[in-house]
Amino acid sequence: MIEDLYIQKFGRSPEVIAQAPGRLEFIGNHTDYNGGPVLGVAVDRRVSVALAARSDRQACFRSASMEGEVCVDIDSFAPLSGNESWANYPLGVLKELISAGMPIPHGFDMLVDSDLPAGAGLSSSAAFELASGYGYCGLYEFELDRADMARVGRRAENNFVGMPCGILDQGVSAFGDVNSLVKIDCEKELFSRLTLPDDVHFWVFNTAKKHSLVDSLYGTRHQECMEAHRRMQAPLPQAQNLAQISTAQLSEHQDLLGDVLYRRALHISGECERVLAVESALGKGDMATVGELLFESHESSRVNFENSIPELDILVDALKESQHVWGARLTGGGFGGAVMAVTNGQFGQADAEKIVAAYQEKFGQAATFFHTTTGPGASQGQLSAT
Ligand code: GLA
Repeated sequence: MIEDLYIQKFGRSPEVIAQAPGRLEFIGNHTDYNGGPVLGVAVDRRVSVALAARSDRQACFRSASMEGEVCVDIDSFAPLSGNESWANYPLGVLKELISAGMPIPHGFDMLVDSDLPAGAGLSSSAAFELASGYGYCGLYEFELDRADMARVGRRAENNFVGMPCGILDQGVSAFGDVNSLVKIDCEKELFSRLTLPDDVHFWVFNTAKKHSLVDSLYGTRHQECMEAHRRMQAPLPQAQNLAQISTAQLSEHQDLLGDVLYRRALHISGECERVLAVESALGKGDMATVGELLFESHESSRVNFENSIPELDILVDALKESQHVWGARLTGGGFGGAVMAVTNGQFGQADAEKIVAAYQEKFGQAATFFHTTTGPGASQGQLSAT
């Protein structure tokens, strides 16, 4: 338990604990920063933090999985680098909350623990941001609603960590719930929940591969989307973002974009259309159609957005051939990470092992997998009574 670990690490009890789940991107790949819709799921694995006040003005961070401590002065801190950079997530959130008016009369000691596999594309970074946000609000008695907490997390990532991400990861970690998908209208920043049909299961197949340029490739895709929108403004001045441009309009003005930008834009408009189609199929309990749309999404990533890698494609291909699988696709930014498979309850351990055997045969190394269900969104936790 994080409280016991806190005592081991800091020699006293925490005053506040908080937790936030990781997320799966169900569908709506790279639509968020383009102002489109996206669907995500909060999983039943999370990042937890525990905090207690210090009498000085230092902020000190320790991790359950690492030795050492990172400390900064709360009145003057800047992004950290090297092996201290993991503390940029809670530091970025601290900076945003101070800007939002949170008073910090004293420093704190924070411990972080997590049962989210790192690098599996489940956005442990957003979970860390949201857990820290709820932790600080508990410690400093500051209130923010869920939507603002998600926005604070995203701004921390954009401004302090330096990733130009959209609101998907933080929004899903904030608004997730059991048996629910979170729908985000990223243009208006509206968050809602859709009920999942019964007997829907999630399996995550982790390639443990991460493209060495993953952060810069994400930035490149972001720029390509902005450029495609800029070029489309000549014929479509009313379109405020790429998500407002349909696949038919793109095809009509393909010559303005050229091959690469056309395919990038086609992925975004296709994903926006698929999100709405998935929502409608879910409403009818039509998981077969949902599954087809998930496979289409992956194919568009592979061909148009080029954010898949062969390791992800092999997993998706094997899942396509497997019984009891509705659909599968890469989840999150891409260029490595994990595949999400959506299955019925009959898909089991033996089926999952066959999928990784196909992977092992091709790549000579293992992919890991786990079953996960939906879980609750970020919150402050209850300290156990002493
Ligand atoms: C990452 C980002 C999100 C989103 C996805 C792709 O997870 O953090 O904001 O852009 O990639 O959909």
